[in-house]
Amino acid sequence: MTKARTALVTGASRGIGAAIALGLAARGYDVALNDIDRQKTELEGVAGQIRATGQRALCLYADVSDKAQVEAMVAQARADLGEIDAVVNNAGILISGPVDGLPEQVWDAVMDVNAKGTFMVTQALLPSMKARGYGRIVNIASIGGKHGAPEQAHYSASKAAVMGFSRVLAQEVGPLGITVNCVCPGIILTDMGRVNLDDPETRSAWSAKTAMARIGDPEDVVGPVAFFASDDAAFVTGQTLNVDGGIVFS
Ligand SMILES: NC(=O)c1ccc[n+]([C@@H]2O[C@H](COP(=O)([O-])OP(=O)(O)OC[C@H]3O[C@@H](n4cnc5c(N)ncnc54)[C@H](O)[C@@H]3O)[C@@H](O)[C@H]2O)c1
Repeated sequence: MTKARTALVTGASRGIGAAIALGLAARGYDVALNDIDRQKTELEGVAGQIRATGQRALCLYADVSDKAQVEAMVAQARADLGEIDAVVNNAGILISGPVDGLPEQVWDAVMDVNAKGTFMVTQALLPSMKARGYGRIVNIASIGGKHGAPEQAHYSASKAAVMGFSRVLAQEVGPLGITVNCVCPGIILTDMGRVNLDDPETRSAWSAKTAMARIGDPEDVVGPVAFFASDDAAFVTGQTLNVDGGIVFS
């Protein structure tokens, strides 16, 4: 059993991030919850659920692609909750479109949140993790970063970037007691996941591709993230775990 810990979860107002925040709280973590301003009602709702369990929850509004906001967020999290043991870089966006004609701003927006956001939140936490000789960094990539799907080349590139970043960072900070791992969700039923699932035919095609013959729920991602965040995974770093129900590609 992991002793009482603190975690910061980005993009925690809904979907996979909310499930992770609730799941970590259920495992005894006090949780700093991040999202953007317009998700205030949802984020406060998740915080309320956590507080009802007796754990502490702190809502922090910041765009993870904005360095100044990220630094202020991390400072506030440490001031209110104490040192952050685990960070889950979950905030992400998906804007679909074919490469031919993809606006430069869309490429930049997806890379900025998914890849640069992961880098900046991690970088802001590293000094305190290094000073303590302890840290768990769990980055939410995607099976899309391994093979991808049409109209998601920029999303795939951003998630491949997260995986490459994580593998190298694991080598840089391993000697300091900090682990860095990635979880790659498959097709999960969330607001973002619905992009792939709205059409019933596409939905059953995705279900048929999994060994378990179903689409995932946000809760399916929690256990693997909690494992990487825990002391049970003290000697596990630089890894990338698919959480996709066993998608079998022909
Ligand atoms: N749903 C899937 O099928 C799936 C599959 C693979 C990977 N993922 C990844 O899992 C993560 C969570 O996805 P989800 O399906 O829960 O999506 P979602 O859209 O339901 O939730 C994403 C959350 O991130 C927040 N967010 C967006 N931009 C932000 C920013 N700049 N700063 C802070 N927060 C921001 C959103 O407000 C939202 O709360 C993402 O990184 C996504 O790429 C999802």
